[in-house]
Amino acid sequence: MLQQFNERNRDIKVHVNGKIVHRDEARISVFDSVVQGGDAVWEGLRIYDGKVFCLDRHLDRLYASAHAMLFQDVPPREHIIGALMDLLQANDMYDDVHVRLTLTRGEKITSGMDPRLNQSGPGLIILPEWKPPVYDNKTGISVITSAIRRNNPQFLDSKIHHNNLINNILAKIQANEAGASAALMLDERGFAAELNGTNVFVIRGEQVLTPYAHNCLPGITRGLVLEICQEQSWAHSQADLSLTEMYTADFAFGTGTMGELTPISKLDGREIQVSAFAQMRFDEICDAFVNKRDVLSTDIPRQ
Ligand SMILES: Cc1ncc(COP(=O)(O)O)c(C=O)c1O
Repeated sequence: MLQQFNERNRDIKVHVNGKIVHRDEARISVFDSVVQGGDAVWEGLRIYDGKVFCLDRHLDRLYASAHAMLFQDVPPREHIIGALMDLLQANDMYDDVHVRLTLTRGEKITSGMDPRLNQSGPGLIILPEWKPPVYDNKTGISVITSAIRRNNPQFLDSKIHHNNLINNILAKIQANEAGASAALMLDERGFAAELNGTNVFVIRGEQVLTPYAHNCLPGITRGLVLEICQEQSWAHSQADLSLTEMYTADFAFGTGTMGELTPISKLDGREIQVSAFAQMRFDEICDAFVNKRDVLSTDIPRQ
């Protein structure tokens, strides 16, 4: 298993609906929409060196997801930022931390699917944990292709960052059973969409390529990699990538807030045969990604 229990997290405090409590005391109602139907939206954030990375972009996506789901009375940005900063201070957390921030549709007056049963505003859960990047970003990970397709706008738009993650979880189970670290999910046409919890890129020749965001979350990290390539005038584009093009890539990597930039060493038993150019380009992207922290971070006020 990639992640283990971290003793440092034994006594962390979390935010639940306006209160900061010890993790063992944190409770949400059985009438909460996230319990009833996974009816919630969320963001994963990272804290580096006293700052929250890409906070604005994550909040933009959170508000967009909540708007698409027709959440009512969504708390204003200042409220969420204030709650986050207070909690990080309460935990004395300023580095090496991952935060899972969830906005649920809130409590229902009785169990049921209908959002009109929600008569008290969204619920806010903020869970910060000590968590270094979860994958081995030096040697890379082994990946298998899942039989579970990533959903698309015909069924459930992957652009909403919602808590209905069952298809990704089923894909992860397939990876676990195959002894791999992650599962590549395809779109309904058989082209690569993303890994079960991260976006995917390949480098082929001099081109940095990633699937269109039709069937994947448009990840903040994915966006940063594309932005870096644009700024540096490095050849890049979004593309339909078949499995053969994935197997024969000169480099493959996953991107996400939780794991950062993770090389894929093997896909369905095929070793990714890394070229010198692609390794150099990946290293350059990693350096530029770290440099983005200086310009895209929000200070956590010190008490
Ligand atoms: C399905 C999925 N894909 C990709 C990502 C990576 O997105 P980001 O770079 O914004 O963390 C996530 C992160 O939560 C995810 O859940």
